[in-house]
Amino acid sequence: MANENTTNSTDVLNLVTDTEVVNAQLEKDSKQTNGNGNGKNGKKTVRSKSTRTNSGKTSKTSDDRNTWVRATLNIDPGNKMLKFSCNGSASSPVPSIYKELKGDLPVGKAGCFGYKGKNYIVGNAAHSLKGKLYKSYEGHKTSKIDIWVLAALTSDSFLDEILQDEHYNKYPSKPCRIKLNINILSLTTEKVAAIKKTLQEIQSFTYRNRTFEIEFTNLEKEFIHTEGLGAALTAFKKCPDLDEIGILDLGGGTIAFSILIGGKYHPKVLEQYPASGGGMVSVATCIFDSINTGDIGGQHRRLDTIFAALKTAKAVDKVPYRLGNKTHNIDEAVTDGLDKWVDDNPTVLDVLTKAGQYLLGGGQIFATGGGFASPVIANWIKEYLSNEIDDPQFEVLDNPHVINLTGMELLNDYVRD
Ligand SMILES: Nc1ncnc2c1ncn2[C@@H]1O[C@H](COP(=O)(O)OP(=O)(O)OP(=O)(O)O)[C@@H](O)[C@H]1O
Ligand SMILES: [Mg+2]
Repeated sequence: MANENTTNSTDVLNLVTDTEVVNAQLEKDSKQTNGNGNGKNGKKTVRSKSTRTNSGKTSKTSDDRNTWVRATLNIDPGNKMLKFSCNGSASSPVPSIYKELKGDLPVGKAGCFGYKGKNYIVGNAAHSLKGKLYKSYEGHKTSKIDIWVLAALTSDSFLDEILQDEHYNKYPSKPCRIKLNINILSLTTEKVAAIKKTLQEIQSFTYRNRTFEIEFTNLEKEFIHTEGLGAALTAFKKCPDLDEIGILDLGGGTIAFSILIGGKYHPKVLEQYPASGGGMVSVATCIFDSINTGDIGGQHRRLDTIFAALKTAKAVDKVPYRLGNKTHNIDEAVTDGLDKWVDDNPTVLDVLTKAGQYLLGGGQIFATGGGFASPVIANWIKEYLSNEIDDPQFEVLDNPHVINLTGMELLNDYVRD
């Protein structure tokens, strides 16, 4: 168990074993917040009055509420994929879609919960249930941050661990309680007040027939970070001599080029050029159009079959596309689609021009985002940007589909000379 006094992004949190230690920390937290002993939302901070004896048994309780669990959630609520790590361990990304369910909460499915009188399910499991479907990239990325946070918690095994824990789930008829330190990756870092307000509205939710209460511990501090920060931290660690880097992030909804300086304690964004709507959804749409005009056109297809083909393709000249009992190589449709992606989207052209200009001036670019996990896409973009440039410094980071999130673990140890 990590030191529960720290509240930084890389905490490995903590099923602390001593109630008094927790209560002492809560006392400290509430004083630090507003000096009047009230919690961060202006509410009284709730404390368990139970104490543990030396033998480890709980004695006398005048307040039989469950002890607060402290945890850290790092979350990258992308347009296409929800990435998150709870207590330092990253889970598999979940598609950023959810349904408000018509019926009861399903049993045995990840990412389902009750919240504000409605039942929700997140990820691909939503397709098999009835209800209204919401997609992050259709304008719900920031406004539904409460849903994405609850989706992350309920998709992770963290809540199950609490339910198994006799200390934190001592009173099964009472809510389990979580003090959550949160770090959110977002391009819209200027929407702090709105995001904070939405988070503060999450006071409780249900999961596996139990109520959980949440209190956020760090909303008064810097809890929103620029989306490419994890990639930038990784790049600066790889190349400690660089003072400045470029980050090209090809996500599901957005492609963004950012220039960051190292800074002594924290990388800082100098310039940022996002093309909203220019991410992999638009790439796949252009590829889809190319297929439909080609010799395997004319049959019913869905956009996610393109994503599946890109995910399967390991070589740059072979993109196996499955249709019925036949496999087609759609590498030419992919190339045509990418040409069209740039030709039809002036903002994408602008972002790629800015990135190319940076390479031309000798700058070093590190590529991140799920789009670069596809070798055929990564190779095409690299060649496009490097055209007519001597010795271009362009590198795709390892695990580009999750590095924006997992690289955040480097934040606590980040100090540069
Ligand atoms: N392993 C993979 N192989 C190929 N493509 C992948 C892989 N993982 C993700 N992708 C692609 O990356 C896209 C999602 O990338 P990413 O998770 O970076 O986007 P996002 O963060 O959800 O979106 P945004 O940054 O625009 O908010 C998917 O749509 C898919 O096309
Ligand atoms: Mg992203």
